[in-house]
Amino acid sequence: MKAAILREFGPPEVLRYEDVPDPVPGAGQVVVRVHATTVNRVLNCGVRAGTQMQRKPILPLVLGVDPSGEVVAQGPAVDGVTMPPVGSRVSVLSRAGPGEKGMLGVNRWGGDAELVVAHATMCFPIADGLDYHQASVVIRHCPTAFHLMYTMGKVKAEDWVLVMGCSGGLGSIGVQIAKMAGAKVIGAAGSADRAQIGKDLGADFVVNYGEQDLTEEILRITDGHGVDLVYDNIANPKTFPKAFAAMAHDSRLVTAGAHGGPIVPLDCFKLYDSKITIMGSAGSTMENVRQALDAAGRGKIRVNIEKVFPLSRIREAHRLIESGAVPGKVILDPTLG
Ligand SMILES: NC(=O)c1ccc[n+]([C@@H]2O[C@H](COP(=O)([O-])OP(=O)(O)OC[C@H]3O[C@@H](n4cnc5c(N)ncnc54)[C@H](OP(=O)(O)O)[C@@H]3O)[C@@H](O)[C@H]2O)c1
Repeated sequence: MKAAILREFGPPEVLRYEDVPDPVPGAGQVVVRVHATTVNRVLNCGVRAGTQMQRKPILPLVLGVDPSGEVVAQGPAVDGVTMPPVGSRVSVLSRAGPGEKGMLGVNRWGGDAELVVAHATMCFPIADGLDYHQASVVIRHCPTAFHLMYTMGKVKAEDWVLVMGCSGGLGSIGVQIAKMAGAKVIGAAGSADRAQIGKDLGADFVVNYGEQDLTEEILRITDGHGVDLVYDNIANPKTFPKAFAAMAHDSRLVTAGAHGGPIVPLDCFKLYDSKITIMGSAGSTMENVRQALDAAGRGKIRVNIEKVFPLSRIREAHRLIESGAVPGKVILDPTLG
């Protein structure tokens, strides 16, 4: 098969589109013909660049944490494990199944290839209304978004919710699922066009923190109340304190990302005086995965795909993400070459 191989850390040029042997599925595993993976700032570009060594990536490596495609072969059956049928359309969750180790695309070979091996228990059927490209975005961002907003943040209809980076991968989903809970949503972003994306996704109000004072705007919009739930997965040291200053009494802040920091100033007086709870956790529960796939399958979640590249052009795809020039998702499709 063709795969994009990472043999050394460095700029996008270290990625090589090569022929490698086809993978063989073990017990309880299947082989998926990949039609899509997403390119992410941290888990793809950061791992490739060698700035994510705490994740212990193992070289040589095939990146790609969220492959979607068609099951083309099954390994030996295992008692109690239901194998997805050959020919079925699945998205693969990056976590390890029984007998596997580490994260797909970081600690073992991932989906930036024509074929990928995945454990049957980490393969989820793709709803009829979604294509492979959309399905990879859904499996990448939506379970984490549900975990942050619902499991940790316990979003309620009466909440004012602030979604930072509302045009980004997690942010764009956050806006939509906070609205699903009936909350009043303020989307915030670093430019007018990115804020507009949040508005188009359903935010009741938007703030362009590139030009506007975020604290003042939130207090104006909420009539002095402030926000009850902040969803910040950026940790930008300039905007984080501005959001924090506009948090209401007994409010919560949830986070699963820090690529804009990770160190931010924290007003500890406000933290205790306003009885604020800060919660951090990446990942999601299987219940979050089901919530996410159900919502996406019912057409409740829109994903913003910016550009689709053939796998052979993976270097360009990484450069585009690293440029920061586009808010939407960049997809690699190995079936295009
Ligand atoms: N499954 C998941 O999605 C998942 C799970 C766990 C953790 N995470 C982490 O969550 C974070 C967000 O992921 P994502 O996919 O939503 O990211 P993203 O779409 O690449 O970026 C989110 C937003 O961050 C802002 N931003 C980008 N680069 C920045 C920089 N260098 N400095 C300051 N702000 C910057 C941009 O917003 P503005 O330009 O509008 O400010 C952008 O829209 C990442 O750190 C990721 O590793 C994601």
